[in-house]
Amino acid sequence: MTGSADLVIVANRLPVDQVRSATGEVAWQRSPGGLVSALEPVMRQRDGAWIGWPGVAEDEVGSYDPFTEDGLTLVPVGLSGAEIEEFYEGFCNATLWPLYHDVVAPPEFHREWWDAYVRVNRRFADRAAEIAAPGATVWVHDYQLQLVPQMLREMRPDVAIGFFLHIPFPPSELFMQVPWRKEILEGMLGADLVGFQVSGAAANFVRLTRSLVGLRTHRDMVMTQDRRSVRATAYPISIDVQHFEKLAGSESVIARAAQIRRSLGDPERILLGIDRLDYTKGILPRLRAYSELVAEGEFRIGETVFVQVATPSRERVQQYQVLRNQVDQFVGRVNGDLGALGRPAISYLHSSFPQHEMAALYRAADIMVVTPFRDGMNLVAKEYVACRLNDDGALVLSEFAGASEELSRAWLINPYDINGMKSTILAASRADPKDTTRRMKALRRTLRDNDVAQWATNFLTALEEMRQLQ
Ligand code: F6P
Repeated sequence: MTGSADLVIVANRLPVDQVRSATGEVAWQRSPGGLVSALEPVMRQRDGAWIGWPGVAEDEVGSYDPFTEDGLTLVPVGLSGAEIEEFYEGFCNATLWPLYHDVVAPPEFHREWWDAYVRVNRRFADRAAEIAAPGATVWVHDYQLQLVPQMLREMRPDVAIGFFLHIPFPPSELFMQVPWRKEILEGMLGADLVGFQVSGAAANFVRLTRSLVGLRTHRDMVMTQDRRSVRATAYPISIDVQHFEKLAGSESVIARAAQIRRSLGDPERILLGIDRLDYTKGILPRLRAYSELVAEGEFRIGETVFVQVATPSRERVQQYQVLRNQVDQFVGRVNGDLGALGRPAISYLHSSFPQHEMAALYRAADIMVVTPFRDGMNLVAKEYVACRLNDDGALVLSEFAGASEELSRAWLINPYDINGMKSTILAASRADPKDTTRRMKALRRTLRDNDVAQWATNFLTALEEMRQLQ
């Protein structure tokens, strides 16, 4: 069976999550994460179909009818409660996620989680095979769906298949821990084009196809056993720069930014962190560095405030619960020890905000502090840069975020080096405004050269070239 969609996006989540009100009415709300914010504008431009999970457990996991929401054609794939535990929370987020992020938390390996991963990947592949028109382009996304390209190719050899990994791809020393390492590589090799955030990740992948699968490779090309060429290249993802610029320049965002500043007591300096509450993001060392600077008198309460927004994420996974407790405790202690009446050292918000509010926060913040231990890209860093319409503001950025390769004029830090982080935050806050402007101008130029539309065009053009080559 073939369908009618010429472009099919396959991602674990739909761009919207299903939410039920107390009265049982169904509503849709934007789903979390960088993948959705990057892909949504691409889809609006190209009029394709988006296959994904609506974020809730279903009693029946079969096929659901496609529907249109806010102008997008969405094709839901159901997951049962057990599959959410074993596939999403288990294999995706307690095995692959920590493993691919430098094992900053220990990955767990369970055979039944792997079985669920195979089963759910098969369901997504089946749905893509049904929806795709003859000769369509199918673009599969991220670590949750690494087996889909090969499964889909077996059913639909007529379609062009692209795969993009949004998170890091680890070096061989770590990847080799996975009991199903060969199956995962073979799954990804079902694509014609495999995209990564940075060239080091693409090189890791190519090396593994040689050493583990025994394939011939030449630069970024891998020759498969069925005589296809698969290209593995870096395509650094980006944001809709114009959209953020417009938002940041709107009267309501400007007014809200001023209001945020006032409500924080009109401090001289606002530092800002915005992250999913995830142990890869380096939230604790960042807050530790800041609180030591306050304790040492480098920053004074009332003059400086740190706003930390932590978006709830994967709340049923144990490591995330542990982190939440650690952050809650740490913030409580710092505010108890260092804060003043009505003037906390850290203004901490455990919630998610709409883009409008994020843009206001970006506008209000003098220093954005982004300190992941490892991050595929980090779009928050790019959003901050896009919103600095006056070329001011400092970006402090971890060298372990993919974004640091492009945004090399940021104030780069190593999140494992607390003293280094402290001195860089201080340097950024005391820099000559001319230097700050020079840096921000350069960052904004870099960002404008590669926005998300450019990223999608680069990937899809290269995929088309691969189709011609096969
Ligand atoms: O960008 C990485 C990513 O895991 C996406 O695949 C995902 O949509 C996003 O972060 C948010 O994570 P989750 O879907 O688990 O809430």
